[in-house]
Formats: sequence, structure tokens, C-alpha cells
Amino acid sequence: MTKASFRRHRRLRRTAGIRSSVRETHLHTSDFIYPVFVKEGSGIKNAVPSMPGVYQWSLDRLNEEVDEVVDLGIETMIVFGVPAEKDEVGSSAYDPNGIVQKGIRQIKERYPDMTVIADTCLCQFTDHGHCGVVENGEIVNDDSLTLLARAAVSQAEAGADIIAPSNMMDGFVAAIREGLDEAGYENIPIMSYAVKYASAFYGPFRDAAHSSPKSGDRKTYQMDPANRMEALREADSDVEEGADFLIVKPALSYLDIIREVRDRHPYPVVAYNVSGEYSMVKAAAENGWVDEKAIVLEKLTSMKRAGADLILTYHAKDAVRWLNG
Ligand code: PBG
Repeated sequence: MTKASFRRHRRLRRTAGIRSSVRETHLHTSDFIYPVFVKEGSGIKNAVPSMPGVYQWSLDRLNEEVDEVVDLGIETMIVFGVPAEKDEVGSSAYDPNGIVQKGIRQIKERYPDMTVIADTCLCQFTDHGHCGVVENGEIVNDDSLTLLARAAVSQAEAGADIIAPSNMMDGFVAAIREGLDEAGYENIPIMSYAVKYASAFYGPFRDAAHSSPKSGDRKTYQMDPANRMEALREADSDVEEGADFLIVKPALSYLDIIREVRDRHPYPVVAYNVSGEYSMVKAAAENGWVDEKAIVLEKLTSMKRAGADLILTYHAKDAVRWLNG
């Protein structure tokens, strides 16, 4: 074999400078969306045991968290609520003085330039823990839509910049779009959880948000992890119904789906790096088994490489410190 008969790929890896000049994917502070859990009550900064570094905050202490996020340069947050009272229909999800609405108002008053996203679902607010209305043990689709649209409108009234419905009822984007438009919020975009799998990776979140279903599971509305074509159908219908952003959730085991959705639809794609994906890394890092910084930046980079435009992640504060530190 003559020397020139094969390609020397290592030429482009020879120095740190060359490697940096040919790097194809970069993480930026503006890629990240940081989640916050707002809890009814006072004096609360509750550590979530299964999510080291993540807390539930009452409103009187929420500024501690939001100030830190702003100081780090993170520009976008998503608000999840932990209400004091739950009922059959999740009425605190659309109460103008519900915990999410109050949290949104407080953040927007303090930081008008912060982009605040509202997660729109019923599971944290219903006593049965399902994402829709339950009748005779079934999750009823169309009755749930009315309530979800009400929740979205009340979140927009509270000042939410983006509505992010995560409930996986059919037609939820159309129903919420119509509700927002009728209420005069035609300029508020919908970041749809378009492709959301029935995943075991949500376990730690359900501790943080107290949103586990009391009976049954979410398999009649969230997707089967085995399915790819179904993901494309879900994304297609959300685009048709008017979604402005498409979320794929979870992220790490679904990078193939992120890529396909990105190639298929000219809309921003959001990777939701979910709680279980976070906690696995945290647990291994606390045991000294993995290098946390290297692992986290590698996995976040893989999500962008797969096609994500934005990454919703509990690692956001750490990632930004490492990127800018
Ligand atoms: C509410 C909701 C869930 C998550 C985000 N919104 C829980 C679920 O669907 O069971 C999970 C987020 C995570 O695991 O980080 N529907």
C-alpha cells in the first residue's frame, strides 16, 4: 500500500486548535431551558431526593432560584406546579390564582425579559394523577381538551410567553390554539410535547411534581417506546394543528426520533432531557463512577448533533457554568 492510498482522518484531530476549528456542534447558553418546581406554601426549599440539585420552591423563596438562573445568563425557564389541593378535574390547573399562574406572574414581574414557558397538563392537579378527565376508569379525550384550553388561557393571562402542553390528548394543540386565539392570545406560541413516550425515565419527576397516576399507567395516551412511525404521525398532526415548536421526550434514548422530526419539519425541535436521564448521571457521578462534567456536556452535545435546537434540562445551570467557566 502506498502512503497516499488511504485517507488520514487523524490530520484534522492533530491539535486542539484544528479540532476546535472543525467541530460541527456547539452548545450555547441560549440553547437551554431550565425547569423550576413551584410549590404552594411558605419557607419551602425542598430537596427532591431522587434529583440531587433540584428543589421545590415556595413563592417567597422562588427568587433565590430565579436570580441564580438569571445571573448565569439562562434566558428561558419552564414552570411546573405542585398545588396544595387536588380534585377530580384538576381545577387548580386553570385557577387564575393557581400556583403555576402565581409563579409565572412573579417571575415575569421580576424579570420581564425572561422567557417563561408554562407546562400545560392536569396530572399534577388531579387527585387521580392522570393527564385528563377520568370516567369509569378511562381517560376521556375530548372533555379533557376543554380543561386544557382553559388552563392554557389562564397561564397566558398570568404572563406565560409560551404554552407547552404535555398531556398527549388527541387534538390538544388545536384546542389550545383555538382557546388562546379566542382569548386574544394569537401571538402566544405553542411548544407542543408532540412526541412523548410512556417512559420509565419520568420516575424522579413524579417525585418532584407528585404527579404519579394513582391507578393504571399512561400507556393509552403516551406513546410506545418501540414506535417510530407513530412518532412521525404525532409530529405531523401537531404541525397541522398549529404547533410552533416540537418537543421530543425523553431525549437520550430517542435521538433517532429527534433527527427524524428535525429533518421532516421546519420548526424548532426541543429535546426534553428528562428526570431519569438526569438522575442516572447524578447517581453515577456521586459514586465517582463517571466524570459528571464530561458526561453531561457529551450527552447535551449529542442532542444538538441529533438535531435539537433547544434542550430542556435539569443540567442547564451546571452546563452553563462549565461552558462559560
Ligand atoms: C406532565 C409531565 C411529566 C413530565 C413533564 N411533564 C410527567 C409525566 O408525563 O408523567 C416528565 C418530566 C421528566 O421526567 O423530567 N405530564
